[in-house]
Amino acid sequence: MAAQRDMATADAELAAAAHALLGDRRLIIATNRGPVTFTTAADGSLRPRRGSGGLVTALGHVSQRVPITWIAAAMSEGDRRAAADARLVRRALGDDETVRLRFASVERSVYEQAYNVIANPFLWFLQHQMWNLPERPVIDAATMRAWDRGYVALNDAFAREVLSQARGDREPRIMLHDYHLYLAAEPIRRARPRAILSHFTHIPWPPSSIWQTIAPPIREAIARGLLANNVVGFQTARYAHNFLRMVETFVPDATVDYDASLVKRRRFVTHVRSYPISIDPEATRRVASSRAARRRADQLLGGSREQVIVRVDRLEPSKNILRGFLAFETLLQRNARLRGRISFLAFLVPSRTGLREYGHYGREVQNAVDRINARYGRAGWRPVQLFYENDYAQALAGLSIADVVLVNPLVDGMNLVAKEAVAVSARDAVLVLSETAGAFDQMADGALAVAPADVVGTADALATALAMPREERARRLAKLRRGVEREDITWWLRRQFEDLAELVR
Ligand code: G6P
Repeated sequence: MAAQRDMATADAELAAAAHALLGDRRLIIATNRGPVTFTTAADGSLRPRRGSGGLVTALGHVSQRVPITWIAAAMSEGDRRAAADARLVRRALGDDETVRLRFASVERSVYEQAYNVIANPFLWFLQHQMWNLPERPVIDAATMRAWDRGYVALNDAFAREVLSQARGDREPRIMLHDYHLYLAAEPIRRARPRAILSHFTHIPWPPSSIWQTIAPPIREAIARGLLANNVVGFQTARYAHNFLRMVETFVPDATVDYDASLVKRRRFVTHVRSYPISIDPEATRRVASSRAARRRADQLLGGSREQVIVRVDRLEPSKNILRGFLAFETLLQRNARLRGRISFLAFLVPSRTGLREYGHYGREVQNAVDRINARYGRAGWRPVQLFYENDYAQALAGLSIADVVLVNPLVDGMNLVAKEAVAVSARDAVLVLSETAGAFDQMADGALAVAPADVVGTADALATALAMPREERARRLAKLRRGVEREDITWWLRRQFEDLAELVR
């Protein structure tokens, strides 16, 4: 009852904030990946499928609460075709008028340069500090061309689509998202000086010493581009602080006020805030308790009495999947009595398969799994089971039956899997969590902390988690769950709406 009342209050507060910000406008949201993407089937027809990753999960919940126009990049040939067929797109979203999806469409080669040369291998790697600096990055003429003709062009295309959706409105409310769209605010601001514009970065914001290594035109354009927003948001206070430092270092005509956490440039003020993103625990639980998910959970357990370690990640290097398996291997090596009694279910979602680094990493992950299974497996027991597909319900089913959930990224803006695990656990799962995940700032109290490169420490944490008495598991989980329920997606959104509505006034 009390929980229900809290939820009703939270929803009412969100509705009030949304009304203060939007009146009867639609909110315009722009992201690279949209809620659905289209592939061309063998018979030439277009098939929709749900986009993957934390951003889509989070914003999907937003669209259930306020009417939005969602502008996404046409990422595939299918998307480019679907861009011309508004009815098809509407049908793919279940004819639900609360979300209007529009594609920002550029030529394939332009998109390739923006996504597969700049955004993912360059900005993503930079911001996750995942470069082997003696070798990479090499910012050569081709990179600079991809910046100008790909990244800048894609941002311009987004700005044009936003402006076309905002036609007739001198003060549209626009939320831009993530590292693909650092430059979109400037052209929008020029055309609509009174627009209420925000940008939220879902990935980490590294210290200035990292930005210092890259070409001045790029880092300056990014800093200036973001300053065209009224509010720029980050996952953690540390990332927000890093942004202020970056502005101070690279934008000489800007004044940074650290106490008020804002930047003034040419009489324009940009507020710099942290809004840790979250999930909708109730909706997440609904998916996990659907009949299909429950059936899948039973199959996964297979009536066994083994303990289960679970991980769910997009298959990519920042998730630190390899060291997770090394830690599991160490655990089996050191604890012969655990052999045959525990299994590791890894639900890995295909991601950015066009990138060389990702392909290489995927092969290494597969090798590690094969090695562990060959070394320790025996009839009737396979230590690691790998699921390589984009199946959200199955992944939640996996999390629901976990005794231990391993979330050990090298660095992560937030990591929503940690929060989903806490929401859906049916077996008082223990969360083993990297100190370097944004989620750690909110979940340190309750999770078992690991340093991501520390394989021995991670093996120890897994052992501690597996041996933890039921009462302590329950106590930790309850604490984490209360946190996720209090600081949920509604809270994330409401705080942003309130800050933006304040500017309207
Ligand atoms: C992270 C990023 C998102 C991105 C997602 C999936 O969550 O912050 O912007 O959409 O990964 O990556 P992809 O490249 O497949 O869209």
